[in-house]
Amino acid sequence: MAERKRVGILISGRGSNMLSLIAAGRQPDYPAEIACVISNRPEAQGLLKAAAEGVPTRAIDHKGYGTREAFEVELDAALRTFDVDLVACAGFMRLMTAEFVERWRDRMLNIHPSLLPAFKGLDTHARALAAGVKVTGCTVHLVRPEMDSGPIIAQAAVPVRDEDTAESLAARVLEAEHLLYPHALSLFAAGAIMVSGERTVAPQAPVNQAKPLFWPPLD
Ligand code: GRF
Repeated sequence: MAERKRVGILISGRGSNMLSLIAAGRQPDYPAEIACVISNRPEAQGLLKAAAEGVPTRAIDHKGYGTREAFEVELDAALRTFDVDLVACAGFMRLMTAEFVERWRDRMLNIHPSLLPAFKGLDTHARALAAGVKVTGCTVHLVRPEMDSGPIIAQAAVPVRDEDTAESLAARVLEAEHLLYPHALSLFAAGAIMVSGERTVAPQAPVNQAKPLFWPPLD
């Protein structure tokens, strides 16, 4: 196997997607390993969970920096200290400057709990319910300066049920997220996905047949 890509995970909160990436990174045939977990919130539960998994952690409290740029200088330095190839945002609730995003262009991924480009931003599940959509889902994409934008690597579709609340829908989508993110990172880290314009293509892998594009899985 080619050398495994070193991944730095950025979080702000509970870190359940982070845990799914850490678990994937432990598999011997997985093309990426988790080099560090960094949070802009020192109190983030995910930091404790990562440490319990034996993953190096770093808290960089954005409130300690006068500007977004000053915070990002520190963040960038930490990622480089851990010799990171790829960055995986997993519930990282901090807007980034265009300069930072460009520095990590096509090397920084994010997961969003909707089928982008629908429902960018916060409160996605409540807005999906209000819009009456029958299918929602989650998206792993490359990060671009505009929020929740960028070439889509993979998506999972999740049905909306009549009786759903924002909470029940979030829980169903989260199950799909925990499968989708390791899957998408694996495709990207292995080089199976290439960026072409503002889309991604999978020249060799039949990505559209790859699981898990539907949650619960279709028979
Ligand atoms: C996930 O729903 C993710 O899609 C969104 O923020 C949430 C983070 O949850 N960006 P967790 O911290 O991974 O549990």
